[in-house]
Amino acid sequence: MTAGSGPGTLAAQAAPPGTAGGNGTALITGGAGGTGSAIARRLRADGFRVVITDVDRAAGERVRHDLQVEFIRCDCASEPDMRHAVRLSGPVQVLVNSVGIRGATGAIWQIPVDDFRRTIEVNTVSHIVMSQLVAPAMMQRRSGAIIMIAYGAARTGAVGRSPYGISKWGLLGLTESLASELAPWGIRANAVLPGMVAGERFAGSIALHAQCEGITEQQALDRIMSRTRLRRLVDPAEVAAAVSYLASDDAIGVTGVFLDVSGGFE
Ligand SMILES: NC(=O)c1ccc[n+]([C@@H]2O[C@H](COP(=O)([O-])OP(=O)(O)OC[C@H]3O[C@@H](n4cnc5c(N)ncnc54)[C@H](O)[C@@H]3O)[C@@H](O)[C@H]2O)c1
Repeated sequence: MTAGSGPGTLAAQAAPPGTAGGNGTALITGGAGGTGSAIARRLRADGFRVVITDVDRAAGERVRHDLQVEFIRCDCASEPDMRHAVRLSGPVQVLVNSVGIRGATGAIWQIPVDDFRRTIEVNTVSHIVMSQLVAPAMMQRRSGAIIMIAYGAARTGAVGRSPYGISKWGLLGLTESLASELAPWGIRANAVLPGMVAGERFAGSIALHAQCEGITEQQALDRIMSRTRLRRLVDPAEVAAAVSYLASDDAIGVTGVFLDVSGGFE
């Protein structure tokens, strides 16, 4: 179901067969992406009613159709868009902040500060806003889970990709703050830290690493693999499985955790 501009919430409208989940609503930002859609697939299988948001209408519609989830077009750089999306979604049980852009590349002193602002706006500030928007209803119900999709290398720094690295590092602070402040209501906040994820985005990621470090793509791949203990890429479904766990009651005692799903990147 696509969000229209009319009144009412998506929850109040008739859901397509099979989308009304017994576990409540899971809202996924950037849900049309490679990892975002894998998370949508998994949470739907887990019994959630899944609502994805994305700025890319065509991609969002494709995922809506393929996975039988709901889609709301939403630019995560726009606070009114996010407010609208949360209003349409109804009470959210699980928020997955998956939206992320790569950001500008280059030496930190060469990247215009507005490029930092744009990356932090989408990758960090949107997660703050979305968390603010869903928290009151979660507090009322004394239940909920907020999950950030960060980045395995956030903690080691991303050479030539400082806007991205900084934006993802900020998510760890956000996770810790939310975990502490929402704990009295039984609401949990955790982060999943993927490494190099297989899929459409992978070739572009390797090219970016090569460009940032001034090496060939093969050398970039070898370098990443040599720093990855399991010597393998991560599958989007493996990231989704980590999200599934953190969203579930099995993780009722887990908050403020950074769950690394990178194959052991060091
Ligand atoms: N794929 C990887 O290798 C990898 C590795 C580590 C971390 N991550 C993180 O995982 C998360 C999901 O990544 P993915 O693999 O799905 O990436 P992706 O590029 O496939 O998807 C990102 C999605 O976000 C959407 N988007 C971009 N800007 C937006 C905006 N302003 N408002 C709303 N939507 C917007 C895009 O349209 C796209 O559908 C991201 O936060 C990413 O940084 C990915």
